[in-house]
Amino acid sequence: MIDERKEIQDKDIYILAIESSCDETAAAVVKNGREVLSNVISSQIALHTLYGGVVPEIASRKHIEKINQVIEEALREAGVTLQDITAIAVTYGPGLVGALLVGVSAAKAISFATGIPLIGIHHIEGHISANYIENKELEPPFICLVASGGHSHLVLVKDYGEYDIVGRTRDDAAGEAFDKVARAIGLGYPGGPKIDKLSKEGNPDAIHFPRAVVTENEYDFSFSGLKSAVLNYLNGCQMKGEPVCEADVAASFQKAVIDVLVEHSIHAVKEFGFDKFAIAGGVASNSSLRNALEQECCKNHISFYHPSPIFCTDNAAMIGVAGYYEYLKGARSGYDLNAVPNLKLGSREGVTGYECIKG
Ligand code: KG4
Ligand code: ZN
Repeated sequence: MIDERKEIQDKDIYILAIESSCDETAAAVVKNGREVLSNVISSQIALHTLYGGVVPEIASRKHIEKINQVIEEALREAGVTLQDITAIAVTYGPGLVGALLVGVSAAKAISFATGIPLIGIHHIEGHISANYIENKELEPPFICLVASGGHSHLVLVKDYGEYDIVGRTRDDAAGEAFDKVARAIGLGYPGGPKIDKLSKEGNPDAIHFPRAVVTENEYDFSFSGLKSAVLNYLNGCQMKGEPVCEADVAASFQKAVIDVLVEHSIHAVKEFGFDKFAIAGGVASNSSLRNALEQECCKNHISFYHPSPIFCTDNAAMIGVAGYYEYLKGARSGYDLNAVPNLKLGSREGVTGYECIKG
């Protein structure tokens, strides 16, 4: 078995990856797990901005219009053809069902027409795997904070493809809180990058917003109370006819989110006895969060890993990296692969042929 795996690893492995779980239509080619040959992202953000958030039906329709073009561009940019591709990795959950179905259908069609193996990938596994692209020395185990528009998880990455969730949000995800607060202060969608930018002009200590403590699990998060506190503050100002300093609100809100994310993360890394910590997901591109984590990790002698911002927000390169490790482990999906909007991390649902070639 070990020989079989070694033989696979001795050959160059090219993964064609497809991601369409939300509002980015993306395709990439990744060589040998950590070398990104192309990373094409067609963003729908401008379109959804008109409506203040992602409209699922519009997202699906746009994915259909773009998917073939994006895949062709990814192959062209990488300088490869389908004949060079070893396996096709595609996000099949979690996400918007109609959006996921477009990527899954495209991947199945190419796989069926060419005979190239198909592998369904969990979107969050992709986000975590983005850390392997620029940190060639990073290997599991480590703790990873995944903070995106749909998730806020503290994950124990035990091995490639092996995860334990040690903390999760009880209500809103961190990115969701950013988006909702941004809308309330009139910044529009997507909120994260706009709050990140405006916060630089504000005082993070101007307004004290609450930091929720979840008593049942010290690693869990809760952001809905913070969001309500910001809305109450804005309403209060309006009723009293007081002016609102949006930059101070943005900076104070952002500080409240960051304080909790940093505290829980460092606590988990120490309690689980690790010296490696990584971040992932759209919120991981937040400049103040990255600075705060850098400082705290340095103070606590923890090695801090983070993807470049382009690999934090949704992209297909991260799916290609995850696909490579799943391929090495023998994971294969059948043509009955379906979109699973609420897919659990670590679930083998959708991986019908798990030909285990572990040593
Ligand atoms: O990972 P992602 O691209 O999509 C999901 O899987 O959800 O994350 C998108 C989320 C959005 O909520 C967006 O506002 C947030 O990430 N985000 C940020 C920043 N850039 C994106 N949040 C805070 N600061 C940022 N710079
Ligand atoms: Zn994502």
